[in-house]
Amino acid sequence: MGGEPTMMAQLNRRRFLIGSAAVVGGVATGYGTRVLGGQSILPEAKAQYPVHRAAHQSFLSGVAIRPDQIETGSGLPSGLLDPYDLIVPEYHGQWSAIEYEPGKRWFDNFDRIVAYAQSRDAMVRGHALIWENMTPNWVRTGLSETGGWSLVHNHFDAMLSRYRDSVPEWVVVNECVDTEDGVDDMRQTSFQRAFGNGYVERAFRTAREMAPNARLMVNEYGLEYDNPVDEARRDALLRLVERLKAANVPLDVVGLQAHLDLSKGRLATKAIAAFCRELAAMDVDIAVTELDVLEHDRSGSIDTRDRRVADEAQAYLDAVLHQPRVRSVATWGLSDRDSWLQERSPSTKSAASCSPVDCTTMNRGLPYDGEFAPKPMASVVDGAILSTRMRIA
Ligand code: G3I
Repeated sequence: MGGEPTMMAQLNRRRFLIGSAAVVGGVATGYGTRVLGGQSILPEAKAQYPVHRAAHQSFLSGVAIRPDQIETGSGLPSGLLDPYDLIVPEYHGQWSAIEYEPGKRWFDNFDRIVAYAQSRDAMVRGHALIWENMTPNWVRTGLSETGGWSLVHNHFDAMLSRYRDSVPEWVVVNECVDTEDGVDDMRQTSFQRAFGNGYVERAFRTAREMAPNARLMVNEYGLEYDNPVDEARRDALLRLVERLKAANVPLDVVGLQAHLDLSKGRLATKAIAAFCRELAAMDVDIAVTELDVLEHDRSGSIDTRDRRVADEAQAYLDAVLHQPRVRSVATWGLSDRDSWLQERSPSTKSAASCSPVDCTTMNRGLPYDGEFAPKPMASVVDGAILSTRMRIA
């Protein structure tokens, strides 16, 4: 029995796993294309978009990245991103990152991510046109003034026209549900206060007007566990989607963020599966958009911890990926060193920022550890994507 396979060997295995699925059969994909034997047939595709490798995939494998992570010298092993056919800007597509001050738009970082994705024939998901947390303060105050919607209109116009030919899918509204402090289960945001809960519908219609062929998504968190809050959030999101679809609002995709959390007890696997089936029945596609795992007890051995993380991801993906119309899985980062989860405690934050990084102390909730070594979670995600592609081919 040989030793632990080298990272390159595991990387090549990953490439094989993901790549080999690309030539399996043909299906209609959520991206308006049909693939047969890996060759895309594009008549239904949105021809104005460059032919993405995504067009050859019946199911996309995604990752969120930042520009600094793809620069030379970033430490990212070459080839590690090769198998991914969906790239999501982790931060640099947010309103605050684009136009922190009125009239001063800064597209460079988003442009770099888009160019990177295009260089590897991967699809880009724009993230996110509206998210309260990343709404500049000058916008928050301006929304409530007369004609405040023009701020939204102008932002959408700037983003959707600039990336019309390179970004075929957008998170239009991120995290708008709140069953604890919301108004009719909708989060009290500066948009909600200025325009009422109808701002969600208005946002989608505005986006459709400017991007007739883009796929438009609402994206939510806190939908995974067997507890009253997550259950209420699942119900509230179903009712929101039902209302939007009943009003013929151009909603194409529902994003399930899937920030798993080992302190939250048992995954509601049956309820998640039923939830996805109900969404699919409302004629929307489903995307797992931000998969990662927050550990609760980091005292055990690395093997024990990594197994626990991998098992949680496996259980979640098993519940979701067997449901209809699930089109992609994206992890919210590649390596633990870049995970937002390290910000959750001083010890994990310092573990990720020291040099060399402390792979043990940091949260181990992504496919690769702080030195880009693959963990059991990488095999779980790869395997889930491969088996889904084989199954739906
Ligand atoms: O790029 C700047 C850098 O130049 C500056 O020196 C540094 C210090 O302030 O900030 C850097 O920007 C940070 C950015 O991440 C990139 O690292 C922002 O301050 C920080 O607020 C931002 O946090 C992101 C957060 O969303 C807010 O946009 C996280 O990386 C990102 O993982 C997180 O992602 C969200 C999803 O969008 C929605 N779902 C929840 C998820 C986790 O909160």
